[in-house]
Amino acid sequence: MNDARPPISVLFVCLGNICRSPLAEGVLRHLARERGLEGQVRVDSAGTGAWHVGERPDSRSVDVARRHGITLTGQARKLEPEDLHDFDHVIAMDRDNLRAIRALADSSSGGAEVSLLRDFDPDPGDGEVPDPYYGGPSGFDDVFEMVRRSAEALLDRLATDDG
Ligand code: 4NP
Repeated sequence: MNDARPPISVLFVCLGNICRSPLAEGVLRHLARERGLEGQVRVDSAGTGAWHVGERPDSRSVDVARRHGITLTGQARKLEPEDLHDFDHVIAMDRDNLRAIRALADSSSGGAEVSLLRDFDPDPGDGEVPDPYYGGPSGFDDVFEMVRRSAEALLDRLATDDG
């Protein structure tokens, strides 16, 4: 990454855009700021479903982020075809999200690189960030750790190969 270039843009995608992807958005922005890369990475999030459009992040995601010194911002929005044009990277939390993104990518001809967040995780488990919505708060702690590890590794990659 390099100050003279436009920021590398990353869109995180989950189902509702209230639990996992806003957390990933907040964590990546926080890590970028810690590394002095603020302004060089543009981060946003969206959901493949529209049920929660306009809502703030789920209070359990807000809590786990706050315990790690991270403030979550933004309101839920739905993934749009233009996102495949507007972002360099569109990164899914699970394989259902990935399928929905790929279906949209097929019809939008956008150039975004589409991947799973845990493709970057050095300890990837089954490759998915599980949906914590119907579980207890410990699910959100587990999700936070997966997201943090993956986002660190993603940022390493963006910093070394210019995204
Ligand atoms: P998210 O979690 O995809 O991580 O935001 C969910 C939020 C809401 C629902 C499912 C998952 N829902 O069914 O309403």
